[in-house]
Amino acid sequence: MADQAYIDHILTIQQRWETALEVAGFGAAIVTAGESAPYFLDDQTPVFRNNPHLAQWFPDDHCELSALLVRPGKPPRLYFYQPADYWHLPPETPNWATDALDVQMYDDAAKLEAAILGDSEKINRVAHIGARTSSNLPTENTNPAILLNHLHYHRAYKTPWEIACMTRASEQAIKGHRVAREVFFDGGSEFDIHLAYLAASKQTSADLPYSNIIALNEHAGVLHYQHYDRNPPDERLSFLIDAGGRDHNYASDITRTYSADEESLFAQLLSALDEAQQAIIEGIRPGPNYLDLHEHFHQQLAVILCDLNILRCSAPAAFETGLTRSFLPHGLGHLIGLQTHDVGGLQSSAEGGMNPPPGQYPALRLTRPVEAGQVFTIEPGVYFIPALLDALRSDPLGADVNWEVVDELRPYGGIRIEDNVLVTETGAINLTRNAF
Ligand code: GLY
Ligand code: MN
Ligand code: MN
Repeated sequence: MADQAYIDHILTIQQRWETALEVAGFGAAIVTAGESAPYFLDDQTPVFRNNPHLAQWFPDDHCELSALLVRPGKPPRLYFYQPADYWHLPPETPNWATDALDVQMYDDAAKLEAAILGDSEKINRVAHIGARTSSNLPTENTNPAILLNHLHYHRAYKTPWEIACMTRASEQAIKGHRVAREVFFDGGSEFDIHLAYLAASKQTSADLPYSNIIALNEHAGVLHYQHYDRNPPDERLSFLIDAGGRDHNYASDITRTYSADEESLFAQLLSALDEAQQAIIEGIRPGPNYLDLHEHFHQQLAVILCDLNILRCSAPAAFETGLTRSFLPHGLGHLIGLQTHDVGGLQSSAEGGMNPPPGQYPALRLTRPVEAGQVFTIEPGVYFIPALLDALRSDPLGADVNWEVVDELRPYGGIRIEDNVLVTETGAINLTRNAF
């Protein structure tokens, strides 16, 4: 039995797709789940992930080779593949979806494909949305940009059911974050913390929305640090954890940073950054462009770096000259939903207009006006990255840096604080802090 919020969600998505199909001039769309391809010269495959376009209708990964037919005025038809496989556990019959989707079961992939082709033949112009696989479906209308642009743009506005999924994805991650913090203060290694996070959030590595970033000391200065040291460092200084959860294929993306010594300069920097991060979120209203929030944060970072005597110039000068960019090379945040870095963040319209980030902020992934219904991250950071600091030291701008203090902070790596927020007409709801 499908829950009412899911049924309502499907009705909203159906309306969106009907409009998109009309704008793009298609009579229907076939959305394929896809299949996991083996590694080169191997019979092993990565764990299968559903096509996010299908996941918005059928929010599960246990659907390899299944497909969905979306047509105006008709319930979406799910061709569900349930092979009689004795090597793997076949996916369960999705009884939970039958009130919202017209579910048709197949144990034979050729018959499933024949059914899709038979239904498609009666429809004028059918688009295919999905990765090209071994299927024999026609390919001439695969992933038409005009259709994808429309769908990607509107994916930014979450339905109540999607918001409920994302709220649960935050709650799940927070269970892991709490335990990870304890293991750090108990002296655990990156590996110990990683395993504790998985256990507490009840996830395997394959379930995670993205690989956990568990970084002690200078590793916190590697933005997407990807290893798990098996031994703790000799001296424990700092801990950055960027780890999320997933609920019905919807992600949370959460970062916290801790200082081992609460009296250190690093701890002061951490608390200043945390305050500034919360102030940005409290000020969020529909209207300004996300780029304005990003630039505003750089101005705040300039104040923090000058106040703590890390920079010697004035705060306005540190912002104007771009000095802060050497300490914060990534964007303030990104859309989030079915994908951790969700699509559509740089679109200026549903019709395909793009608004790339300005040249000084090439890593910014969101340049849309802030609007009610969007969920995005606010994840400012400040880092001591050897490659960027070395470049700065040999630049005339480097004269404004207090290198003695910077060198003291290098072993701490850096700080990032990341929350997921839902924009409403009156302000932002912090899904992450509410769950903590
Ligand atoms: N975890 C990747 C990011 O924060 O964007
Ligand atoms: Mn993150
Ligand atoms: Mn993020």
